[in-house]
Amino acid sequence: MLELNAISSGYGETQVLYGLSLVAQPGRVLAILGRNGAGKSTTLKTIMGLLPLKSGDIVFDGNPIATRAFDVARSGIAYVPETRDIFPSLSVRENLEIVAKRFGGPRPDWTMDRVLELFPRLGERLDNGGTQLSGGEQQMLAIARALLMNPRLLILDEPTEGLAPIIVKLIHDKLQELKRDGLSMIIVEQNFGFATALADDVAVVGKGQVVWTGSAAEIRADEDAQHTWLGV
Ligand SMILES: Nc1ncnc2c1ncn2[C@@H]1O[C@H](COP(=O)(O)OP(=O)(O)O)[C@@H](O)[C@H]1O
Ligand SMILES: [Mg+2]
Repeated sequence: MLELNAISSGYGETQVLYGLSLVAQPGRVLAILGRNGAGKSTTLKTIMGLLPLKSGDIVFDGNPIATRAFDVARSGIAYVPETRDIFPSLSVRENLEIVAKRFGGPRPDWTMDRVLELFPRLGERLDNGGTQLSGGEQQMLAIARALLMNPRLLILDEPTEGLAPIIVKLIHDKLQELKRDGLSMIIVEQNFGFATALADDVAVVGKGQVVWTGSAAEIRADEDAQHTWLGV
């Protein structure tokens, strides 16, 4: 569904990715793992058109991916950045409506009602401002907004970062529900247990390249790989 072929990218003069290749299969969850600073977020930002591709190519559903961020989103890839990026001056309802209006279409899979069914907590917070939400509620809102874009591929950058264990468990259950529903996902995570419980496939990034690929079960059983590439 999504293929990165030997991509290079970075920030201005600073190159971060050096010919990175990976594949995300439809209907599956791919976890991208790796140490801090390895280039995981840079990979996601390059997919989303937020950083320019210096070389290599990215193919989404058989076509070269769009180069402008808005067009990438339009083509069916929703991205929840590490920073969550909800609009702090808008209420929860407004945060959701703005996306529902822009991406809804005539018969959307995801509606306001359906995201509130998935995250009832947000229903109780509809009139609260973005800044009045807990970290967990902000993450729920960020995921809900991404779903309202009706994506074919959902990309999440460290969805559990900074969250209490009980909220991590809730986010896990919700993502598991989306997976059962057949949604394709790419997840970047520092939480090894969380990532490998959810993922089918794993790609490990080290110094701007993919250094290990295999199944989630394989990396769980491979203590050498965990030690070498993740420092687990
Ligand atoms: N905005 C930026 N400008 C310059 N360098 C950056 C920027 N963001 C990240 N980097 C550098 O790019 C490298 C990879 O970062 P990143 O992709 O965020 O790593 P990861 O998500 O795997 O922890 C790091 O060396 C980091 O310092
Ligand atoms: Mg990161």
